[in-house]
Amino acid sequence: MRIEPSPDVIGATIHDADLTQPLSAADFARIETAFNARAVISFPRQHLDEAQLVAFAQRFGEVERIFLTHYAHPRHPEIMYVSNIRENGRDIGHADAGRVWHTDMSYTARPPRATLLYALEVPMENGVALGDTHFASAADAHDSLPAETQRRIANLRAIHQVAGRRARTGTGQGDQALRHEQPAVIHPVVRTHPYTSRKCLYVSEGECAGIEGMAADQALALIEELAERIVEPPFRHTHRWQVHDLLMWDNCTVQHLASFDYRWPQHRRLMQRVTVGGSAPV
Ligand code: SIN
Repeated sequence: MRIEPSPDVIGATIHDADLTQPLSAADFARIETAFNARAVISFPRQHLDEAQLVAFAQRFGEVERIFLTHYAHPRHPEIMYVSNIRENGRDIGHADAGRVWHTDMSYTARPPRATLLYALEVPMENGVALGDTHFASAADAHDSLPAETQRRIANLRAIHQVAGRRARTGTGQGDQALRHEQPAVIHPVVRTHPYTSRKCLYVSEGECAGIEGMAADQALALIEELAERIVEPPFRHTHRWQVHDLLMWDNCTVQHLASFDYRWPQHRRLMQRVTVGGSAPV
């Protein structure tokens, strides 16, 4: 197994890992250390069945059942399909996941530690893969803020609500009934990473509806300012997909954005997604 960090502030590729086999404690420790340090890890050329995908995810913690149940794998309710493919007039998976910069399920009390995405079909055009996934380091963005700003935001708490601002951005319309069942939650604007203790900005324009105790216009302006800081070019990393890539990311350290430069029916994108449970942000 060889770990190759990317030239960016986040990201690494782990070569020659065979995730179909149970990992030794030593190999898993190397992977987990790389994951905590680099936040986005790709494992090329994996040939995983559903049970193997879930078993690997379980090494990082409890694998969650997904709440968008209509996109779940019929025999593995922990696996959600992310796809633009339509069959019999309906999407076979979540077709517009990740249209805005976000961190997964920040609108829940205990957002997932990690998300894993396994590529079964990757859209191609003229030999070039489409549908890249972009990442940004909320930890490096926090470190880059002036000390005075860091002090000003250190104890603020943001209101996260999936049916709030994201609904107004026009994404996830098909899932509004399920999304409305998710009540608002409050999380620190700056959270401390549970494994590395790094401070990470934890706001996104798509999912934050306000800041506790702050006037709405002031709160939304601050959320926008911090969200823009997170995605500045020095903090970015992009994953270009190949079939059978397994990619995993840390939902505290990074935010992500999917690109939608592919179209049904000329392009097909099919991914399996699993989330690993996390802790309440502090
Ligand atoms: C997501 O935001 O979970 C999906 C990302 C992607 O499909 O690239």
